Amino acid sequence: MAKPSIPYGKQVIDHDDIAAVDEALRSAWLTTGPRVGEFERAFAEFCGAAEGVAVNSGTAALHAAMRALKIGAGDEVIVPAITFAASSNAVVYEGGTPVFADIETDTLLIDPADVEAKITPRTKAIVAVDYGGQPADYDALRALAAKRGIKIVSDACHAPGATYKGRQVGTIADLSAFSFHPVKHLTTCEGGMILTEDAGMAQHMRRFRNHGIDSDHRSREKTGTFAYDMVEIGYNYRLPDIQCALGISQLKHLPQWLVRRQAIAARYDQMFASLPFARPLVTHPDRTNAYHLYVIRLDLSALKIDRRRAFDHLRASGIGANVHYAPVYHHSFYRERFGYQIGLCPRAEAVYQEILTLPMFPTITDAEMDYVVGTVSELRNLS
Ligand SMILES: Cc1ncc(COP(=O)(O)O)c(C=O)c1O
Repeated sequence: MAKPSIPYGKQVIDHDDIAAVDEALRSAWLTTGPRVGEFERAFAEFCGAAEGVAVNSGTAALHAAMRALKIGAGDEVIVPAITFAASSNAVVYEGGTPVFADIETDTLLIDPADVEAKITPRTKAIVAVDYGGQPADYDALRALAAKRGIKIVSDACHAPGATYKGRQVGTIADLSAFSFHPVKHLTTCEGGMILTEDAGMAQHMRRFRNHGIDSDHRSREKTGTFAYDMVEIGYNYRLPDIQCALGISQLKHLPQWLVRRQAIAARYDQMFASLPFARPLVTHPDRTNAYHLYVIRLDLSALKIDRRRAFDHLRASGIGANVHYAPVYHHSFYRERFGYQIGLCPRAEAVYQEILTLPMFPTITDAEMDYVVGTVSELRNLS
């Protein structure tokens, strides 16, 4: 039998998606046209939020959120140690200082107790990462933040459609950032969005994504004017209409893809129950998990190999295993710029040695999942 090739994540594109992009390509607007607002309204409505601001990546969404909160030099923003670097890079873009909080070992979510220990008079915001698709403990974070005037940014790039105590991700934090990269729940190739209830911040972020200019090309066409003012320094973070067309079409599938991701996770959980050395992350009963990632922790004391060898075995077997993520402050940029030392967040460092991300995408088959679990079970025989 040929060796399979099972990635850890991948997009699903159908004829409707292609037709939607084709139509946009033939229209008058390739960018800054009507599909931008349409996608913003559709995604905001899906999540139950008042305002959506489309940008060209999840990273740009986080950057816009930092600008909307006026993060700047001297401000500290607390970020979980285990996340994609963009969660804290956005703080650095605006001149702020990321302060890393440790995580809960069984969920990899930011630990509110360590957040509290890291709060100082300079703390201006907390970035709550909904790791893997499970919402962070927003009530606990809110209780710490509200009395001190600290804002909460949800890095919800893993979690569209997830819920926390019955509330939809995208409506819980002051600002929520999403990514539409191909491995995510829905894709616009590259793309992102910020959701908020605050119309003033939404307006600010729309300006920020357009160089800091107070109007865009389409609105000037409508009013028949050429004049505009650049009122602050911004960026070109605009999401083109053809990508918004893809996003609008993809969004129609999201409810069924979420159900499918949850069914895949339930099936994996059931199979891993008989492999005690491979422990899936835990989902709290007061949350639903959107399962961007399916992550197991290896009990290294029960194995004769380390995670690297386990990863190599899966890769050699055609399984696109991955690791999400090394503690951000381990990166040389963070050590050199901010002087962060190994040892800063001991639980993050310990669990990082144990984690493996396994394939999770809506079109994975039962046979592929059986093969993945079967290959993981071989780890106990390796030395
Ligand atoms: C937690 C998290 N935050 C931010 C991002 C950045 O999103 P993008 O790749 O769309 O810039 C990602 C993407 O991988 C992510 O996983």
